[in-house]
Amino acid sequence: MQPRHFISLLDISSSEFRRLINRAIELKKHRDPDYQPLKGQVLGMIFEKSSTRTRISFEAGMAHFGGNAIFLSPRDTQLGRGEPIEDSAKVISSMVDCIMLRTFNHETVTTFAKHASVPVINGLTDEQHPCQLLADMQTYFEYRGEIQGKTVTWIGDGNNMCHSYIHAATVLDFNLNIAAPHAYLPSKIIADAAGNRVRFFDDAIAAAKNADLIVTDVWASMGQEEEQKQRCLAFKDYQVNADIMKTAHQDAVFMHCLPAHRGEEVSAEVIDGSQSLIFAEAENRLHSQKALMEFLLCHQ
Ligand code: CP
Ligand code: NVA
Repeated sequence: MQPRHFISLLDISSSEFRRLINRAIELKKHRDPDYQPLKGQVLGMIFEKSSTRTRISFEAGMAHFGGNAIFLSPRDTQLGRGEPIEDSAKVISSMVDCIMLRTFNHETVTTFAKHASVPVINGLTDEQHPCQLLADMQTYFEYRGEIQGKTVTWIGDGNNMCHSYIHAATVLDFNLNIAAPHAYLPSKIIADAAGNRVRFFDDAIAAAKNADLIVTDVWASMGQEEEQKQRCLAFKDYQVNADIMKTAHQDAVFMHCLPAHRGEEVSAEVIDGSQSLIFAEAENRLHSQKALMEFLLCHQ
């Protein structure tokens, strides 16, 4: 039987997403050191890009659950010397119980999962970042409750985070306003599949009207460092600042997956202000991924 993977938010149903959120909230409230459902199990973590939050949250989560995590970088493994993904997937999954992969091409994760005999988790690709959405949605539910029917506004690059927000809008049924420069819109295929839940705006202020949650991300993602200058120019009218927050609902909250560049995609005033939930959001990576690993490894 094929193991259950978590490559995209579209891999889980709406009720499974809600179950994960509730379980994450529960795990955060009551940490029982005797509860070790993954005792003796091993998570292999392959990072082809840098990470602070993803690495620490998966590693700490495994430790809390009685298991172990192994950090694998292409620099020190045969992955970096061109060993085929298919072979690597078969070999690594014959030795560990779950694999988390952060890489560039989304197809690398889908190919890896196809050949793995254990659950594979997408820890970020150029196309998607589904684990971050588990944490973001947990945070929204904790601070504001149900998100169905609410309006989320994405301002900035139509990147991996934006794509996962589009998927979340589909699974959890909220409206998503996207304000991005024309050259940096999200994938048309991903946006079209979400139907009329997703609306596009040229103007960031117009997109923020009636928003319950305002989200942004860096203008240049990992791998796009050389485009930084050109992107700073293209995105200059797409900063989340006090004017944007004033346009949204009074009780709107602000999120950012971090790391952030204050003064670029978000003003310091907003990210460090009272509506910002960035640190709860970062902490929730730990709780939501514990819920995810329990779901993939204990309940299938
Ligand atoms: N938000 C996020 O994925 O952070 P890291 O790159 O530090 O893992
Ligand atoms: N869009 C960012 C997210 C980092 C967590 C990147 O891919 O670099």
